[in-house]
Amino acid sequence: MSHYKVAIIKGDGIGPEVIDEAKKVLDAVSYAHHFTLDYHDYLLGGAAIDRVGVPLPDETLKGCMQSQAILLGAVGGEKWDSLESHLRPEAGLLGLRKALDVYANLRPAVVYDELIDASTLKPEVIRGTDIMVVRELTGGIYFGQPRVKEENKALNTMIYTREEVRRVAKVAFEIAMGRKKRVCSIDKANVLEVSQMWREEVNALAKEYPDVSLTHMYVDNAAMQLIRNPKQFDVIVTGNLFGDILSDEASMLSGSIGLLPSASLGSQVALYEPIHGSAPDIAKQGIANPIATIASAAMMLRHSFKQEEAAKSIENAIIKALKQGYRTPDIASFGAKNLCSTDDMGSLIADLVSKGE
Ligand code: IPM
Ligand code: MG
Repeated sequence: MSHYKVAIIKGDGIGPEVIDEAKKVLDAVSYAHHFTLDYHDYLLGGAAIDRVGVPLPDETLKGCMQSQAILLGAVGGEKWDSLESHLRPEAGLLGLRKALDVYANLRPAVVYDELIDASTLKPEVIRGTDIMVVRELTGGIYFGQPRVKEENKALNTMIYTREEVRRVAKVAFEIAMGRKKRVCSIDKANVLEVSQMWREEVNALAKEYPDVSLTHMYVDNAAMQLIRNPKQFDVIVTGNLFGDILSDEASMLSGSIGLLPSASLGSQVALYEPIHGSAPDIAKQGIANPIATIASAAMMLRHSFKQEEAAKSIENAIIKALKQGYRTPDIASFGAKNLCSTDDMGSLIADLVSKGE
């Protein structure tokens, strides 16, 4: 029997609630598929600031490095908003991503047929949408030096090295090979030198993938095209900041940001988290949608543990729960027969997984 060591970071806001549901589902799936998961909890973000005074404690980093995968809820909240940037909860998350060198952030945006009416867009525009956004996660303007905040001026720096572009583009091309073999690289090469180099590097790599068709798009046009005709996209590859923005936009194709998972991959241990934030306004009310975190756990089984069948059984159970009309409030007005709580949704998906349905 296989055993996997998983670092759990509940974080802030709705983080603990959605993680509890993901664990419930993982327990069910590991039992059904004959492997065991050994969880260890670590502090990050606001929870860490409150307990030990820093957003990314050494113990967390060490524990994560010694695990085989990390499952994270969400960090941040108004309570810590007035802190200096390097002491904020978000600095903990960014520091963790950087230290783990998880440079490729996979953010699938899939439209579930069952929720076709949950999107603000017309059904005929979004039906069948299946996009994989590959966002560069450990470089670009998020991390570039210098970064300065003075009385009358502030600045950040967008830097990419050719190697950073190449390695994330490689992930995108590899993924495209297993999909519709289309990559769209998104940049702002009409204005930014960093984007011009990004484009050169992606073009150079494309020569190694003759079966993949590569297109380039400026980020402003891409933001428009995602809404106009999302089905034109298969795999998108883009930098850190553009990817942050476009993946939130893509999430609304699916109806709710509460549905979309992510995997952050590098050369060592990978990190799995929902793409949504900590939503402190709805925390502790039992109304958060746990699906994004549960789907992130499925990605963990697939990418880190190569448990494809187990991953699929979670994804099937999510679809089944939606088919049966179970809805948390964020997606409630769309075909809800059974309005349910965070806890109900987790239990239901766990049940469906156990039954192997
Ligand atoms: C995300 C979030 C983070 C980011 C924040 C919380 C730092 O928006 O994961 O998309 O900007 O990367
Ligand atoms: Mg974001």
